[in-house]
Amino acid sequence: MSEPVLIVRDLVAGYEPGVPIVRGASITVAEKEIVVVLGPNGAGKSSFIKAIAGLVPIESGKVELSGNDITSAPAHNMVRLGLAFVPQTENVFPLMSVDDNLRVAGGILKAKEVPVRIEEMYATFPDLARHRRIAAGNLSGGQRQMLAVARALIVRPKLLVLDEPSAGLSPKFVSMVFEMLTDIRKSGVTILLVEQNAKAALSIGNRAYVLVEGKDRHEGVASELWNDPVVAELYLGQRPTVSKAGGAA
Ligand SMILES: Nc1ncnc2c1ncn2[C@@H]1O[C@H](COP(=O)(O)OP(=O)(O)O)[C@@H](O)[C@H]1O
Ligand SMILES: [Mg+2]
Repeated sequence: MSEPVLIVRDLVAGYEPGVPIVRGASITVAEKEIVVVLGPNGAGKSSFIKAIAGLVPIESGKVELSGNDITSAPAHNMVRLGLAFVPQTENVFPLMSVDDNLRVAGGILKAKEVPVRIEEMYATFPDLARHRRIAAGNLSGGQRQMLAVARALIVRPKLLVLDEPSAGLSPKFVSMVFEMLTDIRKSGVTILLVEQNAKAALSIGNRAYVLVEGKDRHEGVASELWNDPVVAELYLGQRPTVSKAGGAA
């Protein structure tokens, strides 16, 4: 494995003191990997990545980004520290144009660099360029996710963290989002991804973890996990259609 970009050790986090939702979860993400976090509904996946991103209070444990301790750093500092988080919902400003959404997101860059980076984002996402003056709220679901990701990438993060980017999208846009993430990884960005759409996420991921009741319970090579009987068991019947579990334990 190449250099770890993210190391999370024994993370305990929750919304109220003494009521942990994340209960000792550990993961690592190596440079240029796509790592997927799967798990049943309510397992604490969103809480886990929100705690990493400084949005849920951490009780104990450690979060390290490229060797820097970022445990409990405030969310508004995370972008400067190299971590860009794309929440599941409310990830764009719906009344602002696509252009203004990108300009605001580029706020921490040098003023001269902002228009340059905006054009680079348009080169990466031509569909956004065609809609640059449109209010983000009028984009299709797929385009809106593209804008949310472009807003995260504009500051050149070391790590892109996404919460269910395919949620609520029609099948056509689901494949578009996963293709986009594959391209982003190819461009050298490291990705941590939470997904309900296990099959699609495992098809683009390098490694994956299964989170159950706030703890990482299983880990493996993404392409092998779909048919891993342990994974099926951890989902306790919640898992969508599984081909008869064979091998790859
Ligand atoms: N803002 C919140 N305040 C209090 N509890 C929350 C909040 N958000 C989520 N929870 C609780 O945390 C648990 C895990 O939720 P979540 O992290 O959203 O799981 P997942 O993303 O795996 O579905 C659930 O029991 C949920 O009720
Ligand atoms: Mg969630």
